[in-house]
Amino acid sequence: MRQARIESSTGLDLPTTGSMVERARAARRAVVFSGAGLSKESGLDTFRGPGGLWERMRPEDLATPQAFARDPETVWRWYAWRWQQVAGATPNPAHREIARWEGRFESLQVVTQNVDGLHLAAGSTGVLELHGTIAFARCSVCSRREPMGEAVARSAQEPPRCPACSGCLRPDVVWFGEQLPEGVFEAAAEASSAAHLFLTVGTSATVYPAAGLIEIAARSGALVIEVNVEPTPLSDLADVRMAGPAAEMVPALGRWLDRLG
Ligand code: OAD
Repeated sequence: MRQARIESSTGLDLPTTGSMVERARAARRAVVFSGAGLSKESGLDTFRGPGGLWERMRPEDLATPQAFARDPETVWRWYAWRWQQVAGATPNPAHREIARWEGRFESLQVVTQNVDGLHLAAGSTGVLELHGTIAFARCSVCSRREPMGEAVARSAQEPPRCPACSGCLRPDVVWFGEQLPEGVFEAAAEASSAAHLFLTVGTSATVYPAAGLIEIAARSGALVIEVNVEPTPLSDLADVRMAGPAAEMVPALGRWLDRLG
């Protein structure tokens, strides 16, 4: 049976006594599970919602192996554009606060659906990138990797060829219908089932298997905290819901945890 939910839109009104406070205070193992909304204040668009990338383009035209086979130039140009955006982005206060938590918990596992590398840029270590990374291109034939910046510099209009086998390069991200990188989801699921505190931040919680981590954590008894500007289909699983932008809510959550000692 889940306990009554705490709602906050400022982060200032979180309680200082009660059973959830005790669970937060006692938490030794934590997982942060992030999605595109975390990088919104770094200037990167989300996929869904108003102004989202998938409002302007259809995922099946860009983010599937079939789209790449059908029209590699369009897909490559779109990822080259996204890479340019990502290359110009810097971590925001939420990424930096999450990196700071490595000193707070006995273990902290960051699991992200984002391909922007901003957790790593903020200083988080051991990040599990469920959907790969846009920092690299990969040969679609022999899997040889090359920094995306070098690949785009060689050709921004069509996929460059692999220097080793002449195969087409593609971004090193996971497309719809593809397997997640081997072992990465399993490691994330293990950390989620062992977590005392599980923060889900900036994700619409709609893309599986990734979103299933929230269910695993809730089922395993973690204190689940959701940070999002809007409710999600899995909001009901959260013990604490913080309704607001990640760059404000995550540092506020950190201040609350600091006050608990
Ligand atoms: P989505 O675009 O689906 O969801 C972004 C979420 O962030 C939404 O729930 C928004 O309400 C929320 N949000 C927006 N601005 C925010 C802010 N400033 N602070 C906090 N939350 C905010 O992104 P993901 O859930 O990451 O996969 O999407 C999951 C996957 O779908 C992506 O990894 C990508 C995409 O298609 C692949 O490409 C395989």
